Amino acid sequence: MPIINFSHQKGGVGKSLLSYHLAYLLKDNYDVQLLDLDNQKSLSSIHKLRNHKLQQHSIPIKTVHSKHELIDLINSIDDNQYLIIDSGGFDSLYTRLAILGADINISPTADKTIELLALVTAYDSTLHQLSRKLRKNISCYVLLNRIHHSAKISLILILFCLNLNISKCSTHL
Ligand SMILES: Nc1ncnc2c1ncn2[C@@H]1O[C@H](COP(=O)(O)OP(=O)(O)OP(=O)(O)O)[C@@H](O)[C@H]1O
Ligand SMILES: [Mg+2]
Repeated sequence: MPIINFSHQKGGVGKSLLSYHLAYLLKDNYDVQLLDLDNQKSLSSIHKLRNHKLQQHSIPIKTVHSKHELIDLINSIDDNQYLIIDSGGFDSLYTRLAILGADINISPTADKTIELLALVTAYDSTLHQLSRKLRKNISCYVLLNRIHHSAKISLILILFCLNLNISKCSTHL
């Protein structure tokens, strides 16, 4: 499963942080590349802030400047490599290509109504559109992130999960 894409059309859900940490977890055992697809370039900025010594041990962060560059990079990843993609918190051609090119799509979300709503409405509709166009099921894993350690799975979250199933959306929890 070499291409892992973190995406969610809501900002601040943890895409950059989690892609960064996952890349570093895999780094010792695999050839890992990190792709910053976000216009805000959070990953690239963090990378630049690291001091010189740390930068020598860090994973260089890739960026692309055209859809062809993105497609070429995705196609260049073989089974012995990992490409971790940090998509921006918005819908765009680039984020859609990343969803299509990924072996695994991960959408982080807290148990917050607004973040769950963005998944069930905007993001799920994107997945449906892509699935219809490609005539195959494009799905994502929902990763619960920033949940307070003492939080109980709330009723609202259960209702959202039920809604995800009822609407036959392609989002897995
Ligand atoms: N599990 C976590 N524990 C603690 N802090 C977290 C966690 N996940 C995310 N954060 C913090 O929440 C903030 C937003 O996270 P992050 O920048 O990764 O979100 P994002 O989805 O990439 O946002 P954007 O769409 O704006 O790029 C950051 O300050 C990050 O450090
Ligand atoms: Mg980000």
